[in-house]
Amino acid sequence: MPSGSTQSADFVVVANRLPVDLEKLPDGTQRWKRSPGGLVTALEPMLRSRDGAWVGWPGLPDADVEPLVEDGLHLHPVGLSAQEVEEYYEGFSNGTLWPLYHDVVAPPAFHRHWWQTYVRVNQRFAEVVAQVAAKGATVWVQDYQLQLLPAALRELRPDLRIGFFLHIPFPPTELFMQLPWRKHIVEGLLGADLVGFHTPGGARNFRWLATRLAGANPGHGRTEVMVGDRTVKLGAFPISIDSGNLDRLSRNPDVLERAKQIRADLGDPERVVLGVDRLDYTKGIDVRLRAFEELLVEDRISPEDTVMIQLATPSRERVEHYQKMRNDIEQSVGRINGEYARVGHPAVHYLHQSLPREELVAFFVAADVMLVTPLRDGMNLVAKEYVACRHDNGGVLVLSEFAGAALELKDAILVNPHDTDGVKNALHAALTIDPDEGRRRMRALRRQVLSHDVDRWARTFLDALGLPPADEA
Ligand code: ADP
Ligand code: F6P
Repeated sequence: MPSGSTQSADFVVVANRLPVDLEKLPDGTQRWKRSPGGLVTALEPMLRSRDGAWVGWPGLPDADVEPLVEDGLHLHPVGLSAQEVEEYYEGFSNGTLWPLYHDVVAPPAFHRHWWQTYVRVNQRFAEVVAQVAAKGATVWVQDYQLQLLPAALRELRPDLRIGFFLHIPFPPTELFMQLPWRKHIVEGLLGADLVGFHTPGGARNFRWLATRLAGANPGHGRTEVMVGDRTVKLGAFPISIDSGNLDRLSRNPDVLERAKQIRADLGDPERVVLGVDRLDYTKGIDVRLRAFEELLVEDRISPEDTVMIQLATPSRERVEHYQKMRNDIEQSVGRINGEYARVGHPAVHYLHQSLPREELVAFFVAADVMLVTPLRDGMNLVAKEYVACRHDNGGVLVLSEFAGAALELKDAILVNPHDTDGVKNALHAALTIDPDEGRRRMRALRRQVLSHDVDRWARTFLDALGLPPADEA
């Protein structure tokens, strides 16, 4: 499909962000870099195999970018002004919907001008997709930033087959009902032919709301509702990763060598504990730092033997809750190191950086314990990535019960992140686990992650949407 062509793409992915972000360098030049987050990690390999188009924001305000082909992907940028970034992206998406859908772990803000901009931007995305999609094309809309898009697009292009997938949790109905614009959101999603969630609970909550708020009829089974004479299918599609590729990368001799080097640079401690997240208040980074600190205070671990690494990708840095959380975390790291570090040997290594893929895999290979402790998470791909990288069946995964991944990764050590003693004891148990028990758990986890990869996720969703497999398309 030639880039920039009109109504020529048979398969279109639409997400708030393009898979690459435009970055302005200090000398005024610009370059593309990989966008943060799990959505891009999951969808990029799938889109490559289907030779489709990706519609999204290039990541900078007021960037005027023409359609382009970047590294083999056909990209169609949707421009946002600085005010739209503030009100649609930072405001309604990340100041209202994000905390509301994550169990209100921070208070959501309800502002009418944010909502109006969200409506306007969703409409603009619909207009761009309507320009790009060929007659009868399949359009796959992604995530909470674009919940009005399915209905807006159906209005413009009733010929399209439209799927929607929510990458974050769909909240309990009582919380969703707080939203002043709840009916519009439900009606927006019902514009799709298939609405997908990570968990059956999310699909159930949505189905209840669709019948109560938007007058949908229950339909024939639990996996659909009727909107007039149109059937909207609903379902749970737990997302995953490119497990085979990560498994291969983790066996690469350069990566293995780098993992050894990382441990040597840390002073060859007996145990390395790792956390890897976007720097987000839902991820429970504070929870795991507290657990680690208390184990040091109680003398159950020593800073000579056990070190912790926290890698944190910068995220949503202009949103207030994120700024406060970053300060709190950096204070905690400073306090722990102030108390327990020696010259050249911090107890906690904190990198506020996004690392290249190979380097990240080397950290996974180097870590004895992976701490994934979100207060609420749609899926959490990091947990699956760690497992995919442990071809040696080594390493122990400590995982929050409130991550979508916990439904599949039952052989992890599961914790309630609200229970500091529980997390602390789980971390200690992981650090002292019987090696046979550790390997048994990791083998079981790997069976799950390697057999349920992102390709299977995409195929299952697109099958349910009625799209033929990539090689027949
Ligand atoms: P979310 O989508 O909320 O960011 P996920 O855990 O599902 O959370 O996905 C995060 C993705 O970002 C994973 O693919 C992970 O490897 C990647 N990632 C997180 N932190 C870093 C980091 N510091 N450097 C590089 N990649 C990172
Ligand atoms: O999966 C959740 C998600 O919000 C994606 O929609 C998004 O691409 C990713 O996390 C990173 O967040 P952001 O695009 O706000 O930097």
